[in-house]
Amino acid sequence: MTGETAKSHAARAALNYVKDGMVLGLGSGSTADIFTELLGLRVADGLTVQGIPTSQNTADVATEAGVQLLPIEQADRIDLTVDGADEIGPKFALIKGGGGCLLREKIIANASDLMIVIADESKIVETLGAFALPVEVDRFGFTITAKKVFDVLCNTGIARPGVVLRVDKRSGEPFITDGGHYILDCACGTITHPVKTAVQLSAVPGVVEHGLFIDLARVAIIGGEHGAEVLEH
Ligand code: A5P
Repeated sequence: MTGETAKSHAARAALNYVKDGMVLGLGSGSTADIFTELLGLRVADGLTVQGIPTSQNTADVATEAGVQLLPIEQADRIDLTVDGADEIGPKFALIKGGGGCLLREKIIANASDLMIVIADESKIVETLGAFALPVEVDRFGFTITAKKVFDVLCNTGIARPGVVLRVDKRSGEPFITDGGHYILDCACGTITHPVKTAVQLSAVPGVVEHGLFIDLARVAIIGGEHGAEVLEH
């Protein structure tokens, strides 16, 4: 089995939730890209949907796949969002933002009637935190914001956190999100109180958004070797 096979199984199973006429939030990352590409095949067969992309990369994938895009400002509802995750914990609490798209992903997931998270089995964890938590911050004063983020992590039970400015591997320059912000990758080890951490991070001036997605996903579709398991919360 390859990871791609498992991702494809999850993405394919998510298509079962798509109905004609829906407005869809299109997630970012390799698993969500597979979903968007499969969606394009359905569109070619006559399905009518409109997609709201969570990143410029997803907009490009959707356009290539033939999925019609809808500017978010013109959407009066979003029926369903299908997106990947970096970790899926208890009650489908997620870490997202490995690809740097967490702000738009969260705006769109939060505005959707239903969010489905799709992933391969490796993303399931008992406790969130092995994956460094992405925190999107305004560029102005980011060193001060980083210190405040560090304090929040310490104050919410994370022992010896590491807070690092994300660097674009190709350019060697700080990574810039679609919204023009920086990302702080926060090594936590174990996030013992995700709700507390989420609430306190949101309260730090300069934090634009963080990658803890709590109470957003209602369905998780987990791909494996021979198919996908659908879990509902
Ligand atoms: C993008 O910012 C992320 O939230 C992705 O959804 C996440 O990194 C999962 O990506 P993969 O499907 O490529 O693992």
